[in-house]
Amino acid sequence: MKRLLLTIGMGVLFSTSARAAINPLDGKAIFDKNCSVCHSINPPPKLLAPPIVPLASRYHMQFQSKAEGVNHLAAYLKAPDKKNSIDPQAIVRFGLMPPVALSDKELHTVAQWVWDQDNQSMGRGRRFGR
Ligand code: HEC
Repeated sequence: MKRLLLTIGMGVLFSTSARAAINPLDGKAIFDKNCSVCHSINPPPKLLAPPIVPLASRYHMQFQSKAEGVNHLAAYLKAPDKKNSIDPQAIVRFGLMPPVALSDKELHTVAQWVWDQDNQSMGRGRRFGR
């Protein structure tokens, strides 16, 4: 019995470590691994942070092009700062987000994924330069 449990345990370990090797070009996988502890995608919010879709809508309202929005967000993820926030109310409610320790490439990839989440809600993103 012990040996069986051990074998199952090892199997679980191996399959999770296989999943942990994520593609740096897969924004959703980066989100699941690094952001979803705090952020839900859709409302309601988790305890620690606002949901992603309404944040994506704010980015679309604030920035004309995807490139601008993605650059701003990638910089924010690296070094969150109250004066750069697109949603200062969220800081009052949840506190400032801690910096995310990912490569610039991964930050841009996940920022692009965040930007694209707005298209699910009412297609508002299409109004702007995409
Ligand atoms: C430890 C919890 C935590 C983690 C992990 C985290 N966030 Fe946040 N995030 C927050 C909180 C709290 C806020 C609201 C306060 C703020 O804006 O700093 C926030 C704000 C944001 C915003 C709004 C930024 C702005 O311009 O105002 C975006 C977009 C965002 N997070 C995306 C992400 C992404 C993408 C990741 C993963 C790469 C991530 N977050 C990881 C807690 C977290």
